[in-house]
Amino acid sequence: MYQSRIAGLGMYVPENVVTNEDLTKVMETSHDWIVERTGIHERRHIEKGDGNTTAIMGVKAAKTAIERAEINKDDIDLILFATLSPDYYFPGSGVLVQEALEIENCPAMDIRNQCSGFIYALSTADQFIKTGMYNNILVIGSENHSGGLEMSTRGRGVSVIFGDGAGAAILIRSDDSSRGILSTHLHAQGEFAEELSLIGPSTNRWVPEIIAANDPEDTSYYPYMNGQLVFKNAVVRFSEVIMEGLKQNELTQDQIDLLVPHQANLRISQFIQKKFGLTDDQVYNNIQRYGNTTAGSIPIALTEAWQEGKVQPGDLVVLAAFGSGFTWGSAIIRW
Ligand code: UT7
Repeated sequence: MYQSRIAGLGMYVPENVVTNEDLTKVMETSHDWIVERTGIHERRHIEKGDGNTTAIMGVKAAKTAIERAEINKDDIDLILFATLSPDYYFPGSGVLVQEALEIENCPAMDIRNQCSGFIYALSTADQFIKTGMYNNILVIGSENHSGGLEMSTRGRGVSVIFGDGAGAAILIRSDDSSRGILSTHLHAQGEFAEELSLIGPSTNRWVPEIIAANDPEDTSYYPYMNGQLVFKNAVVRFSEVIMEGLKQNELTQDQIDLLVPHQANLRISQFIQKKFGLTDDQVYNNIQRYGNTTAGSIPIALTEAWQEGKVQPGDLVVLAAFGSGFTWGSAIIRW
């Protein structure tokens, strides 16, 4: 069995900053409500004409990760692209990245696991490396939420939370078995599929049918979230899946150097921090500045943590996510 490790990280967020105050101009909300319930102060939204798409943001993050990993882009054996907001219904955004990076014929695969998308992608990459099939894998998490949010009072329960952005990691084969991804843990519970979802348009109800119905009450083409149910499940599943990872590696919570949770809600991160007895320095949060960027959130946060020197060789780094599906997962990494 081979070992995999993260050799380079990168991120990209659009320049356009949307503050809570900006949102009050298009919906009934307030800075205080948003900060109190979520911790978010501002997020980034793609601006028409700025050239960004889900894939393009992923490419920008990937270029930084490739540079930092000090590999040649032509040595990438596989691209894994996690998103819930792909450029097209099909094909996936992974092939667009492959084309933009001009990597000849390397396979590209999209992963559809929303907030857990990056952990699912990282785990998939880890398996491909551990079995010896591939040496260098580009893993991207990227979202263009702003293109699909309902920016009105009706949509405020969802639209104040989500932001755009991308993060990327290069996973490489390593001979040092004491470092790298120690284990990953994935779960799903499809009975709650519709509790955080975008149902239409779908193959059950395609665009012409929606247009023909001309129903102003139809919100099926906007994201729906049963916020309180998601919150309650998130705090339980985050805790469980972190414990599962620690236990498998015979580690204890006091050995965690840095926890990078999916940036769903600052209150969720704070709950987990308290539960695991971690200090502010041991939990990395940037939801205040970017909102919830779903598949982008962990690689963006991990990149910033690394850039700030908060991830050092030998550190025990724990990643954990929960979201739509429901799906959840964790990764235990010895940096
Ligand atoms: O990354 C995927 C995972 N997602 C999550 O983990 C999200 C988990 N859930 C949450 O973070 C919280 O449920 C929210 C932040 C989404 C909402 O907070 P909440 O405390 O659960 O609020 P609520 O949905 O129960 O709404 C409370 C009130 C309602 O008004 P009434 O019915 O009490 O009069 C809402 O209409 O707040 C109202 N409201 C808002 N008010 C101002 C909902 N959204 C807004 C808003 N601004 N943006």
